[in-house]
Parts: sequence; structure tokens; C-alpha cells
Amino acid sequence: MHSTLNSSLPTLPRLRTSLPGKRAQELIARDVAVTSPSYTRGYPLVVAKGEGCMVEDVDGNVFLDMTAGIAVTATGHAHPQVVEAIQQQAANLLHMSGTDFYYEPMVVLAESLANRAPFPANDGVRARVFFTNSGAESNEGAIKLARYYTKRDRVLAFLGGFHGRTYGAMSLTASKKVQREGFGSLLPGVNHIPYGTHASLDYLEKQLFLTVLPPQEIAAIVVEAIQGEGGYLVPEDGFLARIREICDRHGILMIVDEVQSGMGRTGKLFAIEHWEVMPDIITLAKGIASGLPLGAILSRPEIMTWQPGSHATTFGGNPVACAAANVTLSLLEAELMDNAHQRGEELQAGLNKLAQKFKQVSPARGKGLMVAIDLLDTEGNLNPELRNQIVDRAFHHGLLLLGCGKAAIRFCPPLVISQEQIQVALEILDKVIRE
Ligand SMILES: Cc1ncc(COP(=O)(O)O)c(C=O)c1O
Repeated sequence: MHSTLNSSLPTLPRLRTSLPGKRAQELIARDVAVTSPSYTRGYPLVVAKGEGCMVEDVDGNVFLDMTAGIAVTATGHAHPQVVEAIQQQAANLLHMSGTDFYYEPMVVLAESLANRAPFPANDGVRARVFFTNSGAESNEGAIKLARYYTKRDRVLAFLGGFHGRTYGAMSLTASKKVQREGFGSLLPGVNHIPYGTHASLDYLEKQLFLTVLPPQEIAAIVVEAIQGEGGYLVPEDGFLARIREICDRHGILMIVDEVQSGMGRTGKLFAIEHWEVMPDIITLAKGIASGLPLGAILSRPEIMTWQPGSHATTFGGNPVACAAANVTLSLLEAELMDNAHQRGEELQAGLNKLAQKFKQVSPARGKGLMVAIDLLDTEGNLNPELRNQIVDRAFHHGLLLLGCGKAAIRFCPPLVISQEQIQVALEILDKVIRE
């Protein structure tokens, strides 16, 4: 059954059965009978093992993973140093609650993140850090912090944005109707405008601010540095700097959601650093601990002044997750951010060749290993059906992909991906598109 569970996986795809295999079929049938139907499984992959960029299913088929478990396993699946840190920490202390007690892995991680935060230093300190368990929880806390600090309650976010699914975070999320439909009223005072263009900010300043949205009532503008679920959209140059300037002019806090774009994925620790803009608050999760559940809110130190008891969580900053994150950060800085940059350039170049070859493929966009293409029909319109077909066919050729936006395929592999693996992913994609 688990043929290679204790040995190394091959570094390229290897399919042994038709898909899904027998064992996968059995587990999927059991899963479907008892788990929430709200889960969105795109294809029938039942994972047993992961190593680097490869995952093995329960029937011994090995896939090249261009998803990293939705942009999470930054250092690759089961990086030996991360696994070792987790094992050691687990043997010492599994939990104590950083809300009520102190422990070293959390102190070390808070210091590292604070030292690297792209905020101006204040008395030698760049940031304060609050630890959470997920991206939604980071954004939830960031809204609370912004309201608490500014004593204002409105929030501005962007169409296509994704910030999580708890009520506060969901109020910011404006990605798909199904994520809101049937769930009743959300946080009041949240407005959305289109993402990424100066035209949208013109609309904000020349229409909304002068009519329905007094800027002095806005606590925060929440923006993704690169819009993730919305399609891996890179904003126009100057867009993020202009938000900074609008925030400064009106006493609004700039919250940058780096849950998907952060932690080295774009070749810099925080994607906002590509534009050299300093936000007030950054939210993190996903890649921060290579797969263990952890998130963080970083703020300029003078903003995080909420009093003891005003915000806390039992599990946030769990010692095992912090130990994994501490190793993750050092691996990112030692080599993986550079690898993300270099492999990302190769990936974009290869995808652009496919775009020249097939008129159904748009030019690539993104930064580092946060890259996407759109699939198009013969008239050049977005073609979600073709995208879904390609994602499904790629799975049957041993390549794991994820969609995003209306008709995009996103490429967010582990940051350890090799040159050869990028080339093989491109070859499989070429074959699948031809089919
Ligand atoms: C930019 C962004 N923010 C927030 C979230 C929510 O994170 P989580 O699923 O950990 O709650 C996501 C998840 O995809 C995301 O991409």
C-alpha cells in the first residue's frame, strides 16, 4: 500500500495505476460520506507522503506538486531540518499557551519577524507581533487592531480579494459569490473597489470620498500586495505607493495581507518589498511554518497598544509551530528566496513560450514562484472550462495544479523546486494543452 513510505520519493512524476487508484477510491468514498460538502476538491488526489516538491498518493503514484498545499509548504514537503525541529520541540513541549505564559521558540520567532518587518524602526524596534492559527484569524485580528487604534470603524477592501472565511475576514473577502451566499449580514462599514489600477483609486478619491465614504471614518485599507485567489494579479506600478499616500493623508492604516504572497514566495520575504512601500500592519499565515498551522499579525510598534486581555488566543504561537517557523525563516533567507526568484524567472519564460505557441494561453504574470496564466477561448475571452480541463488532465499526467481567478492556473510550488522540475512541469503542461 504505502510502498515508499520510509524511503525517498523519485524527483519526477511516476504513475503506477489509473487515477484514482483502488485505495484512493475507497478513501474518497469514506470521506464523502462523513465530511463537510463545502470542501472543494478539484481532482481525486489522496496523499500519503510528501518530500520536497513531490507527493505520493495512497496507491504509490508520485506527483510533481505545483500547489504546495495551497502555497503553504514553502521549504518543501517534510524538509528534514523542519521535521527535526518539530520532533525535538514536540518531545520537549507541545503546548503551554503563549497568551498566558512565555516560551523561547515564540520569543525567537517574534524577534526574527520584528527584525525583518518592512516598517521604520522606532527606538530600535521595528514591529510587534501577535500570533494566530490561520490567515483568516490574522485578518480578523488586524481589523480589530485597526479599529482599536484609530477609533474608527470603516474598512476598505478590494473586489477579487480573499482574506478568509470567518465573519470579519469574510466581510473583506470579495472573491466568489458562493463564499457569502446564505450567510447573512456581515461586518457593517466595509466597502470594496476594483483592485490594482489607478482608475480604481481615482474612483475612490474623486467619487467615494466626496459622496458616501468620508475618509476620516476609515480605520484601514486592506490590500493584498499581489492578489492571490483573485487571479495572481500584480497591481499597476504606483498602486500600492498611492494607497500608502492616501492612508497618510487621511490617517488611515494600511494593512497588507501577505498570507499568500509573503514568506519568500515572491523572491522577497514580503511581496510589498518589491514596491518599497511600508505598510502599518502585515498579516501572515500559510508558508510561515512550512505546513504547521500558524499565522501572525505584524504592526508598527506604536500601533499595537491594545491592553492585556483585549485580544488573545489559546493556540496561536504554539511552540511546535514556532519551532518549524524559526527553521523555515532561516532556510528562506539562506537560499530559498533566491531559488524562488530564479526558478520563477524560468517558469515565467517557459510559460511565455507556451503563450506564443498556443493562442489559448495568456502571457504569464507574477513574481518569484507566485505565477499564473489565463486560459482563453479562440476569441481571447477567459475560458474557465478549458482551465478546469487542463488542471484535471495535468493531474492524470502526474502534475498537480490549482486554479485561481476566473480562468487562471496558478503555479505556487514549494520554494525548493529544481530547474529540472520546472522544465518537466512545463513539458507536461505543453503536452496537456496539445491534447
Ligand atoms: C491572501 C489570503 N488571505 C487570507 C487567507 C485565509 O487564510 P486561511 O485559509 O488560513 O484562513 C488566504 C487563503 O487562501 C489568502 O490567500
